[in-house]
Amino acid sequence: MSYLRSNIAAMNGYVPGFQPADIASWIKLNTNENSYPPSPKVVEAILAELGTDGKRLHTYPSASSEKLREVAGELYGFDPSWIIMANGSDEVLNNLIRACASEGDEIGYIHPSYSYYATLADIQGARTRTYGLTDDFRIAGFPDRYEGKIFFLTTPNAPLGPAFPIEYIEELAERCAGMLVLDETYADFADGNALELVKKCTNVVVTRSLSKSYALAGMRLGLAVARPEIIAALDKIRDHYNLDRLAQAACAAALLDQTYLRACCEKIRKTREWFSTELRTLGYDVIPSHGNYLFAAPPDRDGKRLYEGLFDRKILVRHFSDPLLCHGLRISIGTQQEMEQTLAAMKEIG
Ligand SMILES: Cc1ncc(COP(=O)(O)O)c(C=O)c1O
Repeated sequence: MSYLRSNIAAMNGYVPGFQPADIASWIKLNTNENSYPPSPKVVEAILAELGTDGKRLHTYPSASSEKLREVAGELYGFDPSWIIMANGSDEVLNNLIRACASEGDEIGYIHPSYSYYATLADIQGARTRTYGLTDDFRIAGFPDRYEGKIFFLTTPNAPLGPAFPIEYIEELAERCAGMLVLDETYADFADGNALELVKKCTNVVVTRSLSKSYALAGMRLGLAVARPEIIAALDKIRDHYNLDRLAQAACAAALLDQTYLRACCEKIRKTREWFSTELRTLGYDVIPSHGNYLFAAPPDRDGKRLYEGLFDRKILVRHFSDPLLCHGLRISIGTQQEMEQTLAAMKEIG
């Protein structure tokens, strides 16, 4: 079709994780959602914003999500001018590429990591370069000077699980001529994060999501922390009303209820450690994870066989056909009860 840009005509679209129609009849561990509900304060805030007559919905929401930038700034120790709110962290990843990479420019990332970076680069007509990982979890062959416009570092890494040490990330920032974007979607489940590098290094941006730790995948909420000049540029690009009224109410309530967040993450971390130990006892190869998921390979290294066995028992996990990953599965950590059922199913499959 000649009216399409050639890169759009040629590209494959992103394929999101499978969302079954009869979702309630599955144990759903394939997209790293949170199996626990969001804070009850989130539900209260949405209902209060909606009111009994939905009357507030006829006016536009705050275009700049002003209150949320204040709440997030306070939480992370930054002035609101260093924060931008997004309709899911995917939105801000997209806008970072739009802001920095022209057609033909290069963006880089680790393979395996989040495959959506490649789709976003394709949309922009940017080129991609991928780097593998060494056995001690460093980037293989990363140049002394990386000249691409953006390097995306997923930390903790998804789908594998480990987080990169902060000293190493700082060294990478010094080696990047362009921007180093730290995709910290799973940081709330880790022992630490790299937010302080946003202040220390001029080219570091951190992105966060409320989809996982805050159990709000259905609301589409994310954010970025960066220097004000970068935030100002991202602000020009985003849809001006990118967060609707209900999402803004939910987001403020979620960010303000840190007690609930910490308790929820702690439960998931505990279950993650229990599940890792149980799988290792069964002879599985389990990569230590800092996220709400594990990458685990069964003793026969046949990830597909195990995926199918679990699927037949209505347990949905993620199997990748990629040769680097097909020997194992990425399994989201659900409730303790869901993981006990999953373990029993895995024992039965053998
Ligand atoms: C590494 C990584 N980055 C970003 C995202 C997107 O998150 P959001 O739901 O905030 O758009 C995901 C979602 O699975 C992810 O795994």
